[in-house]
Amino acid sequence: MKALILAGGYATRLRPLSFAKPKLLFPIAGKPMLERTLNSLARSGVDSAILAVNFMADELKKHFGSRYRRIRIRYSLEEKPLGTGGPIRLAMRLLGSRDNFLAMNGDILFDAELSNMLERHRIEKPVATIALYKVSDASRFGLVSVDHQMRVSSFLEKPMGQEPVGGLINAGIYLMSPKVFDYIQPDRRISIEREVFPILAKEDRLQGYELKGYWTDVGTLNDYLEANFSLLNIESSGKAVVQKEAEVSSHAILNPPCLVMRKARVGENAMVGPFTIVGEGSVVEEEASVQKSVLFNDVHLGRASRVDRSIIADGSRISRNVMLGEGTVLGAGVSVSAALRLEGGVKVCPYKEVTENVMGPTNIL
Ligand code: GDD
Ligand code: MG
Repeated sequence: MKALILAGGYATRLRPLSFAKPKLLFPIAGKPMLERTLNSLARSGVDSAILAVNFMADELKKHFGSRYRRIRIRYSLEEKPLGTGGPIRLAMRLLGSRDNFLAMNGDILFDAELSNMLERHRIEKPVATIALYKVSDASRFGLVSVDHQMRVSSFLEKPMGQEPVGGLINAGIYLMSPKVFDYIQPDRRISIEREVFPILAKEDRLQGYELKGYWTDVGTLNDYLEANFSLLNIESSGKAVVQKEAEVSSHAILNPPCLVMRKARVGENAMVGPFTIVGEGSVVEEEASVQKSVLFNDVHLGRASRVDRSIIADGSRISRNVMLGEGTVLGAGVSVSAALRLEGGVKVCPYKEVTENVMGPTNIL
């Protein structure tokens, strides 16, 4: 089966991380998000993936090339972003007009096996079946109502109200029949959620299928941290995991759950965790401590520095005796001079040098 993965857009809510890296390459508990998605899809019988790309397409191509494990990978490049519906129409030739296919948002994580959903789709024969997930606040999502046979009776994208409304939301995974192409005009930006699903619901041609188990959308920096913590906890079974070729001093303290990746180094009397990932080649020097945080690759945390609930992107260098308080986010290649304090949610753009104390919330551009 073929799957189209929406992998474009600017990920503005994930700045400054998304300035230097497409969000689908952000590591989640040590693995790029899109690798996780491809693994999940392979388990559901997908053997061919089409990545719908625009902004930073080259980074994705460089990482995945034309194959990931048993999945063939092709790219459908938009000159201008075409939204969530336009890319499906654009890839029509690659998807073919005969078979059902999967389409999905690239920024979600899930562990469900989709074969039951496929089975329901084959029996019910709607134009599309959308995976649904129960949440207590639907305001950031597409709110979906279904009848007793799981036919979608209404689809409302980003419902705005005074009070949060809970219920079933669009989980961003769709099984589609090629008939869907008739509902998407070519060559223009289209929101599948606002312009296609409400029409299909009205025509009674949209089916719902409730997903159980783990599901999350990685839309914000907070979602990003929480997704790391959840998957780290599940995959480490709540333990401290040290990958091969990592060097951890026998006088370091690892508080579980945590993950020290390949070629990383943790020095004497340093403290890592709980809920922390030290990325490949990253260094936590002597007496430094880092908790509830994600360090991407090749980050250097200097002697006796402290990091709490922060995200630090590739190649950033934090000198000694620095304090990074909750909510700090450093883009790639940032440097922070010795003995500084960044507190209250400071976000720093890639390749900036921070040379004085900063009290947030502040963005350093
Ligand atoms: N190729 C391409 N082109 N991809 C795009 C574009 C574009 O112009 N715009 C967005 N995308 C991709 C994003 O990378 C993301 O993977 C996916 O489309 C969805 O876009 P988001 O911007 O993340 O949407 P959202 O999270 O606010 O809402 C969507 O997802 C929710 C579930 O996670 C909607 O589908 C909601 O209905 C849904 O509940
Ligand atoms: Mg999203």
